[in-house]
Amino acid sequence: MAADTITITGGTPLNGSVRVRGAKNLVTKAMVAALLGETPSTLRDVPKISDVRVVRGLLGAHGVKITDGDEDGELILDPSAVESAHFAEINAHAGSSRIPILFCGPLLHRLGEAFIPDLGGCRIGDRPIDFHLDVLRQFGAIVEKLPSGIRLSAPQRLRGTKVELPYPSVGATEQVLLTAVRAQGTTELRGAAIEPEIMDLINILQKMGAVISVDTDRVIRIEGVDRLEGYTHRALFDRNEAASWAAAALATEGDIFVAGAKQAEMGTFLNVFRKVGGVFEIQDDGIRFRHPGTPLNPVIIETDVHPGFMTDWQQPLVVALTKATGVSIVHETVYEQRFGFVDALIEMGATIQVHRECLGSQACRFGQRNFQHSAVISGPSALRAADIAVPDLRGGFSHVVAALSAEGASRVSNVGIISRGYENFFEKLTALGANFTLEA
Ligand code: EPZ
Repeated sequence: MAADTITITGGTPLNGSVRVRGAKNLVTKAMVAALLGETPSTLRDVPKISDVRVVRGLLGAHGVKITDGDEDGELILDPSAVESAHFAEINAHAGSSRIPILFCGPLLHRLGEAFIPDLGGCRIGDRPIDFHLDVLRQFGAIVEKLPSGIRLSAPQRLRGTKVELPYPSVGATEQVLLTAVRAQGTTELRGAAIEPEIMDLINILQKMGAVISVDTDRVIRIEGVDRLEGYTHRALFDRNEAASWAAAALATEGDIFVAGAKQAEMGTFLNVFRKVGGVFEIQDDGIRFRHPGTPLNPVIIETDVHPGFMTDWQQPLVVALTKATGVSIVHETVYEQRFGFVDALIEMGATIQVHRECLGSQACRFGQRNFQHSAVISGPSALRAADIAVPDLRGGFSHVVAALSAEGASRVSNVGIISRGYENFFEKLTALGANFTLEA
């Protein structure tokens, strides 16, 4: 069991190089997509993170044979012996992952039934799945709510349908893609999410034999086919991890080269990084992010779906904004409760006020519904050490960065959650010169 509490002594800039591999929010879905193939699939650049281990366990529980390929980070997934899993086994593997919901379409196509335990996910909102269940019903699935979870069945082949999402949900878009590709007839999805991870999943499905178009008005059309083959694919890099290390370089006055990071998928982040005063250099094999050596500038950020500023990017960046000279504003429009992590920053001496108003250029779904979804950050603040408990994945990364940039020694507990999404997290911190000890 990895250590769950670390003591961090702040004040040392993070300098050096880290490598990011396949995106957590793509590789887990790519693994599920392998269920749709009649032949084995090969997925490369898979990071060793617990979210991948969870999906590996869930696929194994359904009879998918998964072996490590010759290349480091290469998985070979053979779905030829797929079978129903007992829900106790699904429960045992699912943990707090939300991925089980995406097994539904592929399992309904292969087995005519699927079961989802009550889902988890980080504490950043109630993380509903109503869009998912509505979509599956529209494809013709029968959805039964049981005390232990949800059972779905497909008495006959699922049929293509017209779907309009009330919000460009990443998960619901993936739900449609993973179900429509093998449905009878065509599916039209309006209001789709078009994040780079979604586009990479579409690349994978096209390799398998799917026919999918993405129009300029975010309408995705899928023509159902009778058979899909396994794919071979190198996963898109993790832009959320890359942005996290970039923010860490700003917050600790450091200089970090992120190998594997690419400009195209990070354009919006790079603009904000530059406006804060950060310096970046795009190289062939990665991006160098460093503190300018002069005071940081305050900025106004409004998170949004792609190509807007990603909600997963704001938590690590807020730590850097506590060091900026002036007042910054972050209006979080994707999740209703994604500022829980600022409590620890305030305890460390940051001046942050959260508000229920929409403090941005657009009114969002959470306006006047008593969700504290806008934050005002005044700086510069000198952070001092504190005892912190990590609340969620991205908030946890932020807490570690705050402790690294604070005066004194902080005890950070529940750090195991960070390994859900950041491969070799402690080894990377060590490589960057961080001063910390793991408590046994
Ligand atoms: C994915 O979550 C990512 N997780 C999240 O990353 C990311 O922040 C999010 O997309 C937005 O980009 C994975 O891919 C595993 P959504 P997902 O469905 O698919 C509402 C991280 O740290 N909604 O786009 O769950 C929902 O409440 C994680 O890596 C419904 O109302 O996000 C939220 O307000 C955090 N009903 C909004 O849509 C539904 O049925 C966006 O959620 C589904 C979603």
